[in-house]
Amino acid sequence: MTSKEVREKYINFFKSAPRNHVEIPPAPLVLENDPTTLFTSSGMQPLVPYLMGESHPTGSKRLVDSQPSLRAHGLTSDDTEEVGDNRHMTFFEMLGNWSLGDYFKKEQLPWIFEFFTKELGLDPRKLYVSAFEGNEFVPKDEESIKIWKEIFSKAGIEAKEEERIFTYSDKKNWWSMTGTPEQMPIGQIGGPDSEIFYDFGEELKIHENSPFSKEECHPNCDCGRFLEVGNSVFIQYKKVGENKFEELPQKNVDFGGGLERLTAAANRDPDVFNTDLFADEIKAIEEVSGKSYLEANNKSQMRVISDHIKSATFLVNAGVLPSNKEKGYVLRRFLRRAAIKMRKLTGEFKSDDFSGICNAVVATYDGLYLSLDKVGEIQKVISEEMGKFNTTLERGLKETEKIQEINAKKAFDLYQSYGFPLEITKEIFAEKGQTINLEEYKKEFAKHQELSRTTSAGVFKGGLADHSSEVIKLHTATHLLLASLRKILGEQVVQKGQNITKERSRFDFPNPEKLTDEQLKKVENMINDIIDKDLSVNFKVMPKDKAEKTGAIHAFNEKYADTVKVYYVGNTLETAFSKEFCGGPHVTHTSEIGRVRIKKQEKIGSGLIRIYAVVEK
Ligand code: SER
Repeated sequence: MTSKEVREKYINFFKSAPRNHVEIPPAPLVLENDPTTLFTSSGMQPLVPYLMGESHPTGSKRLVDSQPSLRAHGLTSDDTEEVGDNRHMTFFEMLGNWSLGDYFKKEQLPWIFEFFTKELGLDPRKLYVSAFEGNEFVPKDEESIKIWKEIFSKAGIEAKEEERIFTYSDKKNWWSMTGTPEQMPIGQIGGPDSEIFYDFGEELKIHENSPFSKEECHPNCDCGRFLEVGNSVFIQYKKVGENKFEELPQKNVDFGGGLERLTAAANRDPDVFNTDLFADEIKAIEEVSGKSYLEANNKSQMRVISDHIKSATFLVNAGVLPSNKEKGYVLRRFLRRAAIKMRKLTGEFKSDDFSGICNAVVATYDGLYLSLDKVGEIQKVISEEMGKFNTTLERGLKETEKIQEINAKKAFDLYQSYGFPLEITKEIFAEKGQTINLEEYKKEFAKHQELSRTTSAGVFKGGLADHSSEVIKLHTATHLLLASLRKILGEQVVQKGQNITKERSRFDFPNPEKLTDEQLKKVENMINDIIDKDLSVNFKVMPKDKAEKTGAIHAFNEKYADTVKVYYVGNTLETAFSKEFCGGPHVTHTSEIGRVRIKKQEKIGSGLIRIYAVVEK
């Protein structure tokens, strides 16, 4: 079965009666206008406002889509590597269906089981499921267990607990964008979930020769035998304080299933890199390296190369360029790690080794998410970066020759000064019989401000959907900032970038030079005047073409649905001070914001100005 068939079958299944879902276009992979995160990392992420109770622009409470997603876990610490096995990817497509306070467990679980067994033809005897065992705030999910027992019984299977239906703690069976209830920031939503696993059979466990092969195996044990192919999250809680959860006004379903994994299961092949979503890329890697994917020793390297070049291709396509900051830094890490793996595979790498692989990625998604018309530009960015990295590596290699005895500090210096990856340092000194203490290396790394910046901002964790009151106020303040800048400097001012934390809003826009003190003061005063007027903040849902005619600003480069939401500040849309295409959320009246202060401005590139704004009580 091809991935295209799986994707289409899924969308059609949920669109058809009695399910009657509305298909929505996926959100952009790289986010320009999200205050809290760099990439879309799950299907639910763009839908948070609607899961929290706002009405969806389509008017429907049942949505379905396939969402390109990126999870850059482990990329910044240089020592964790999830990618390289048969099933982990940083870029993947997530098939998702949602109930926005409409249907719940007793509909979702039978439907998804029907889709897996009837549409994809998965053998029900090979499916295992999990449910939440409960904690001090939320009870055990007896309801899902009961429903699963009935579902399996109809398929002629007696489903006992801890045999077919497994219960786990909130470490495994709770979903939020940041993890367990404890890890969730206040304001975030989440809930217990129920996962489905496909059993590829006992042989796989032995075949993979994994460190788990001696342990007792169960669906969640990570040995590679069981593959998680879907997760129904019952999003019904919002964190409102330390250890405090409140029921949301509505009970939601958030299902996500990885297209790559479902295609693998449908083909009864546990390796996602054997699906058509990777086939051309693996072939291109074989060609350029002269090595075969069939050989066990090459697999891990080839998987990392194909995964990382795919993610890099998508990022460059979205306009990201390699740099030492945020998205550009993630891109750089992808490319460097791919280069290192190529070096491991063949003993060297050349800057244009990756062009054919990149071409294969674009060809795989041509007409869907990527276009072959753009492949030349993407290849150029990748080759240039690979060329630079090659020079860096050569310099670093010379440095290693000067080191008699390696230690964590020296290894980290090599990384920091020469961008020299730990992996290669380890390898070189292993040949001399020397090792590096990983714990100490991590400590060195943690001292480094780069890491503290990336982890404390939380942005690499794949989302911190922060709907705290601080962030919401700054979000509305940022709309006022853009509107004021346009009124004072002119309509050429558009949003080029935005990032909001609890502490401040950061906003980038084109302007030839920094603003004068007088201009800055004017902008600040204009914003605070609007706040003093206590205007109401409203939104209207309307057809896209009509919304465009109102003069509302497109905040970012998104494929909009046919109906959109326009947020405006003022009593009517016609007379509004600010109007933007936006998902929200916002304060309801401007006086809730407090005083806005522009703290700082910087020139961040030719013709690009960055402003930092804060709110004061
Ligand atoms: N949000 C859940 C996940 O990402 C299900 O869609 O796994």
